Order: sequence, then C-alpha cells, then structure tokens
Amino acid sequence: MNHTDMLQHARQVLSDNDRGTYTVPTHGLYPFQWNWDSALSALGFAHFDEPRAWGEIETLMAHQWEDGMVPHIIFHQPDDGYFPGPDVWGTGRTVPTTGITQPPVTGFAVRRIHDRARDKGLARAQARALLPKIHAWHEWFYRARDPEGTGLVALLHPWESGRDNSVDWDAAFERVPTEGVGAFVRRDTTHANPAHRPTDEQYKRYIWLVQKFRSLGWDNTKLHDASPFKVVDPGFNAILIRSCEDVADLAARLGMDEIAEASRAMVAKGVAAMKTLWSDEMGQYLCYDRCQGALIQSPSISGILATFAPIPKARAAALVRRIETLADSCNYLIPSHDPTHPAFDGLRYWRGPVWLIVNYMVADGFARAGETEIIPRIINDCLRLIETSGFAEYHDPITAEPCGGPHFTWTAAMVIEILNTYELAA
Ligand code: DGY
Repeated sequence: MNHTDMLQHARQVLSDNDRGTYTVPTHGLYPFQWNWDSALSALGFAHFDEPRAWGEIETLMAHQWEDGMVPHIIFHQPDDGYFPGPDVWGTGRTVPTTGITQPPVTGFAVRRIHDRARDKGLARAQARALLPKIHAWHEWFYRARDPEGTGLVALLHPWESGRDNSVDWDAAFERVPTEGVGAFVRRDTTHANPAHRPTDEQYKRYIWLVQKFRSLGWDNTKLHDASPFKVVDPGFNAILIRSCEDVADLAARLGMDEIAEASRAMVAKGVAAMKTLWSDEMGQYLCYDRCQGALIQSPSISGILATFAPIPKARAAALVRRIETLADSCNYLIPSHDPTHPAFDGLRYWRGPVWLIVNYMVADGFARAGETEIIPRIINDCLRLIETSGFAEYHDPITAEPCGGPHFTWTAAMVIEILNTYELAA
C-alpha cells in the first residue's frame, strides 16, 4: 500500500465510523463515544475537516459532569451489543454515561489542532469555549483523585487507564472481590476473538467495582477513599500533565491568564511528583499501588509513555535505551508489555500488543525532548503494521497479527496524523 492509498483508506475508516456529531471507535465492539478515542480521532479529522474535528471534542465535553469529570463512555443511543450498558452503570444522566473517566488527552489535542488550524478564527473560538471545561476536568482530577495533594492522580478502575487488562493491575486486582456480582453475558467476545480480550475473571472484578461505585451514588467525594483499587499510572499522569501544560500555553496566548497560571502550577507539582515513580533497576517509570504504598514491579508501556510529559532529559534518554532493549525481543515497536517478561501475551489487549496511539504519543514526547534518533523506527513500525495487517485496534508485536476490532477509528486517525506530521520515505 503506498502512502496515498493508506491515507485514503484511513479517511474511509473515519467516515464509516462517523455518526455525525461523534465517532464510534469501531462498529459492533464499541458502539458509543469513548473519551480518549474521540480526542485522538479529532487529530485525524483535523487534517481534512476542521469543523468536524472540533465537533468531536465539543460533543465529548458537552457531557461533562457538574463536578468536572468527563465520562469514559457516552451512550448516545441504545445498543444491546455492548456490555456493560447504561443500566449497569446507573449514573442517572439524561444522556447516559459511565461514571468513571479516561486519559485526559483532550487538552493536548485542542492545542495541537488549534496551532496548526487553517481556520484561525474557528480555532480561537473553539479553544476559548473548550479551555475552561478542560481545565475544570484537570482540576477535578487533582481534587477527586489526589485528595492528599501528592501531585499524582490515582485510577480507581482499570478501564480509566484505557489499558484495561495490563499486567500492571494483576496483583492489585487480586484484592478486588467478586462476591455479589451476579451472572452477566459479555458481548465483547462476540465481536472480537476472546483470546485478544480480558478474561472472565477480570470482567467480574471490573463489574464489582462498577457496582461498588454505583452504591456510593457515583459521588466523587467518596469514591477515591472507598475504592480497593487505587493505582497511580505514570503514563496516565504524563498525559494529564502534558494536557495541563498545553492548556497553560494556549490559555496564556488567548489571554486566559487565570487558567494559564493554575495549569502551570499543576504541571510543576505533577512533574516533581513523577520522580517518585522512577525505577533505576527497570530503567523506566512504574505504577504505584496507593492501597499498598509500593511501586508495582511490572515493565509495561505506561512507564515509557511518561515521556509525553516534560520529564528530565536524562530520563527521556534512558527511556530510549529501554525501547532499544525491547526491540531485541520483538519485530514491531513498541510492545505494551516487555516480551521477555513471563506475563507477556502478544495478542491479549494491553498485555503485549502494539497500539498506534501510544507509539504516536511516545514519539511526540521524544521529539520534544530532542531524542529524535529513535523516532523514525517507531513511526515506520506503525506503518509496517498497517501495511501488513490493516487498520486493526492493536497488533501482535512479534507476528503483526491484527487484533481486537477491525476498521478502527483511532488507528486510522494516527495514520493520517503520522503521514501528515513526519517526513517519510515514500
Ligand atoms: C471495553 O469495553 O473493552 C472498554 O475498553 C471499556 O472502556
């Protein structure tokens, strides 16, 4: 596939998954609007339809809760093909949503789309309207998910990380009970190969947490302390810090000084706190189990995605070395889990496969840190995967097998973004 054909195919994926005011990640498996999918997909739309890109983010932010939280799924219309649907979440919203959130990459996306916009007037108007909402979401994070003011926010559900079944959660997840979870029927495994998806045991725990939070009325002043699952994820925190930084920069240029100043303070505190997640032994950042008070010794992509935030240059350089080591045990960068680790599984969702969105964010972080040598390798591996196996949700880093849902929106958006951003050999 040459780059022109690839671009055309990617645009087709976006338009097939476009539902007018929002995009579904893929037909069947994910029939609603997902939070970080939308923000990253908007980057793709922006290259050929700026109003549509802004519309994607506008729709997402229109469903922000009064306390500032932006939900992880918006159930725009009923669809029996997904579990757990609105009846399980019971959040009582007029347009139903889930009650948890997802990686806040919207601030980053808004700044990027704004800065390269052809329609500057539209971009300024949209940014002015969106920044206060995004900022309120960031403030919500530090209030509701870091009540002790450590500078790092905790996830209360693996679905919040976006990395649902990462090896990172295994030990912490063992402490989440399954009592009281009634029988349920999974729908994801009718759309995707069960060997690519989380296990039934994990699903019981996902649902136990949903029921627990629902029993607390989705009151975010209670959820953090009540949750038996509280994990600090370096990749997630890096996305939050980066979005705060981008909001600060853009707000300053738009004369929104209060937002700029408050965002800068959040960045400074977050960057300082990230230090506590570094492991010399592993050569990367690690997750931290807030219930146990200990780092989680699991070599996942999250600790590399940390480079999306303004971490010290020496740390970024160490993360490049870490990727070079990973390259010795796979054919396509970057595996979501170290292939030499016993828990690695190249097919199963976040326990090994490559995700283009992560590659894109890691490459962007390295570009900012001046670590440019590794970038072509990461970017070319993305394109080789697409050439070999199409626009799948994720790919096996050793065989390139396409995994999860096909015809996937954010995979296509990343291809559009990459082909328009990087100088590539034809
Ligand atoms: C799913 O249903 O698999 C999603 O990842 C939850 O957000």
